Amino acid sequence: MKIAVLPGDGIGTEIVAEAVRVLDALDLTLEMETALVGGAAYEAHGHPLPEATLKLAKEADAVLFGAVGDWKYDKLDRPLRPEQAILGLRKNLGLFANFRPAICYEQLTHASSLKPELVAGLDILIIRELTGDIYFGQPRGKRVATDGHFPGADEAFDTMRYSRPEIERIARVAFEAARKRNKRVTSVDKANVLETFQFWKDVVTEVHKDYPDIELEHMYVDNAAMQLVKKPKAFDVIVTGNMFGDILSDEASMLTGSIGMLPSASLNDSNQGLYEPSHGSAPDIAGKGVANPLATILSAAMMLRFSLNQEEAAQRIEAAVKAVLAQGLRTPDIWSEGTTKVGTREMGDAVLKALT
Ligand code: NAD
Ligand code: IPM
Ligand code: MN
Repeated sequence: MKIAVLPGDGIGTEIVAEAVRVLDALDLTLEMETALVGGAAYEAHGHPLPEATLKLAKEADAVLFGAVGDWKYDKLDRPLRPEQAILGLRKNLGLFANFRPAICYEQLTHASSLKPELVAGLDILIIRELTGDIYFGQPRGKRVATDGHFPGADEAFDTMRYSRPEIERIARVAFEAARKRNKRVTSVDKANVLETFQFWKDVVTEVHKDYPDIELEHMYVDNAAMQLVKKPKAFDVIVTGNMFGDILSDEASMLTGSIGMLPSASLNDSNQGLYEPSHGSAPDIAGKGVANPLATILSAAMMLRFSLNQEEAAQRIEAAVKAVLAQGLRTPDIWSEGTTKVGTREMGDAVLKALT
């Protein structure tokens, strides 16, 4: 089983190191190869997604990814910016289905900014379409009045676009996932304003005919954003487009205590996957040793489950994470009164120790 390890930038290197230590401790025959990506790859090779990194990712059974990005690259031409690396990996590997499970662990009920009773026992699954929508629609760009950057441009534009097959396949993924859960799907759209999302709604409704055992509801994205903090447990599976899914999953992360708790899996047709925390490179805390590594460690568990067929090992990691939380250990982002503050490395040590 071959894993491409791409730590990236900022806290990416710190949190991936902990996940790799956990994977190493499992006594599986995992072949892990590390490569540069994002700003780190740009510095070394002049491109955020070098050919060699892409090749490694394509040939691997799974990719373990940290995060990319830093404010210092914001002035680079778009194709050279670190974020293009993760977008390029998703597109090149066909990773259209992004699973972002928002689970509030019992011990973290008080870490959420919401009232404990609203989030206790929360277990919802956001399924975000990942290779279409306004992120990838053509044409896009700026109309330039003079050479150079935006101050000289007259306007800028992006195209929101979905094709029927793109919506059909993500809808099927959502209905299948709901079948293994509470059999409810909320499709989130903006059909009241956007053609793209009226089409989305129509296609999801058509696909639903093949899943009569699943309850489908449609919700506008603004209402969904509100319902997520009003009554999050009313949701089971949320399926939505690339951009709405990006935003709603960050919102949902706070229901679990912190964005540092939200893992993700991005899958293609052949169950090859890229596994990364839902958060970014957190330049504000990078290098301080305080980032929460649990979203990345839990992403590694998802990797074992979905791409490497190692369910038992996945459960071992998840049990270890729960045990560490039960011991009262907390990185600063999930700290609350009466618990013990630890750093990234100590959290990794504790998970390693709790592996049974
Ligand atoms: P971010 O997710 O990096 O950080 C948002 C806030 O959450 C910050 O205050 C940060 O300190 C905190 N945070 C994030 N992860 C944490 C963790 N594990 N433990 C504790 N606190 C954590 O989002 P941002 O600040 O908007 O973006 C920073 C950079 O990351 C940008 O360049 C952005 O493009 C990039 N980004 C990359 C990815 C990715 O690689 N998939 C995802 C999101 C953002
Ligand atoms: C995420 C990030 C990315 C996205 C960026 C860095 C391209 O926010 O993985 O959620 O918008 O998809
Ligand atoms: Mn995001």
